[in-house]
Amino acid sequence: MDTRKIRIFDTTLRDGEQSPGASLFPEEKIIIARQLERLGVDTVEPGFPAASPGDFHAVQQISRLLQNTEICGFGRAVKDDIDAAVRATADAAKRRLHLFLSSSQIHMDFQLRKSREQVLEIARSMVAYAKQHVDRIEFSPMDATRSGEDFLYEMVEAVIAEGATIINIPDTVGYALPEEYGNLFRRVRANVRGGDRVEYSAHCHNDLGLAVANSLAAVQAGASHVEVTVNGIGERAGNCSLEELAMAVETRGGAIGITTGIRSEEIYETSRLVSRLMNLSIAHNKPIVGRNAFQHEAGIHQDGLLKNRNTYEIMDPERMGIPRDMIVLGKHSGRHALKHRMEQYGIRMSEDELNRFAERFKEEADARKFVSDADLLRIWGDTSDTQAEPYSIVDFQVISNHRKIKVASVTLKDNRTGEEASFAAAGSGPVEAVVACIKQAVPMDVELKDMEIHSLSSSESAQGEAQVTVEAGGSLYRGSGIDRDILSAVAQAFLSAINQAVSHSGTGAPDSGNQAEDRTAAGGC
Ligand code: KIV
Ligand code: ZN
Repeated sequence: MDTRKIRIFDTTLRDGEQSPGASLFPEEKIIIARQLERLGVDTVEPGFPAASPGDFHAVQQISRLLQNTEICGFGRAVKDDIDAAVRATADAAKRRLHLFLSSSQIHMDFQLRKSREQVLEIARSMVAYAKQHVDRIEFSPMDATRSGEDFLYEMVEAVIAEGATIINIPDTVGYALPEEYGNLFRRVRANVRGGDRVEYSAHCHNDLGLAVANSLAAVQAGASHVEVTVNGIGERAGNCSLEELAMAVETRGGAIGITTGIRSEEIYETSRLVSRLMNLSIAHNKPIVGRNAFQHEAGIHQDGLLKNRNTYEIMDPERMGIPRDMIVLGKHSGRHALKHRMEQYGIRMSEDELNRFAERFKEEADARKFVSDADLLRIWGDTSDTQAEPYSIVDFQVISNHRKIKVASVTLKDNRTGEEASFAAAGSGPVEAVVACIKQAVPMDVELKDMEIHSLSSSESAQGEAQVTVEAGGSLYRGSGIDRDILSAVAQAFLSAINQAVSHSGTGAPDSGNQAEDRTAAGGC
């Protein structure tokens, strides 16, 4: 089968920014745009230049910075929007303009309050106006999938005649079914004069959870551009998710003869960056980038996975730059998984030791909801009198006065020597202060890459969970901590990731002979 490359059009900074609460400063947009270029998207739609001076400035700066990526200037089919988009993108190495105007009866009656003839005239004249400035013109008949088809054809035909080169068929309200959406592309192309001279783009919203399936259906029907957002963010339930589409194509594209130019190893970094800067957390079960996307709980799955990863994984998380997070220990875990996890701490058990250990572990797992690696190490300490973590927290204190700098002090024990030492540090927030204290204690350069804090329940005795990713010696390590005191959870999570880094670097693991590849641990309750 011939392979066709489809073009990835990223609208994280425009449609994605329409997610409630997600708005960005221009500097933040620039950081994300640079990362999108590294990720290998073909086109970036960096904002809505007519919407605000800040957005205009962001689009202008991004147009000047990105050399390999096409910039899309976006606006309504009105002169002022077109002028702003033309000016903001003037310095782009490659650019297109994207105009939209509603084509469904309900939008024309209630929102535009215009007749079909008036709408058609606006579409025609505004595309002609835009074409005087920019050659590549994308036109979107908004709410296309709920539009009368004859009128849709008429509108698309009119804008092609005026010079539109890319026709986007947006499923604005996420209403279409995959087969319907694909067939709509086929019919537009077949029934519109000039329909075979233009390129087609898919733009799907996820109200029914069909955005990726619909986008793939459009591609199979001939669309050569797919409009996506990182983490699937966007209006309401969001847009087609970039990482899901890209990995569907990477994993199954052979079956439908398509590829993309996405560098999958940049996916995780991009996802975390967008989540952090837009303040939008990612559902744990979100495909590809959700925290649980590559975690395995069931004992039978863990067992299969340890024998051959392909038994229960269709993608290698490390291909997307995701630190491997294979196994969650809980009451479903088998002995094989327990043994494997303890080997990550350099602990090799005899059959007898493993039997005793597994028995105690099962009792604890039955009695509590969360079993952490710290619990494991404590059980190991109880059953064998040896300590597995290089460092443990003896005590910590934080002074956090409103409007004043926060100060923390942490006492750590080096379990290899038995020595205790205290460290103090200040920070603009209590988390920063605690992290700075712990960093001083560790004999290696550690960079905090990412931190997420979650509430695990909503009662007054709620527990908080912190998850931390650090980089040390060129590798990523993740740790998590659970506690009623969220700062304590942060300290445990950070130290837990550092303990792995220290063990892995061989600067003090009790037995560094058996380094496993999974580098995940958890600090505990
Ligand atoms: O969802 C939509 O219809 C849009 C258009 C403006 C392309 O975002
Ligand atoms: Zn949209």
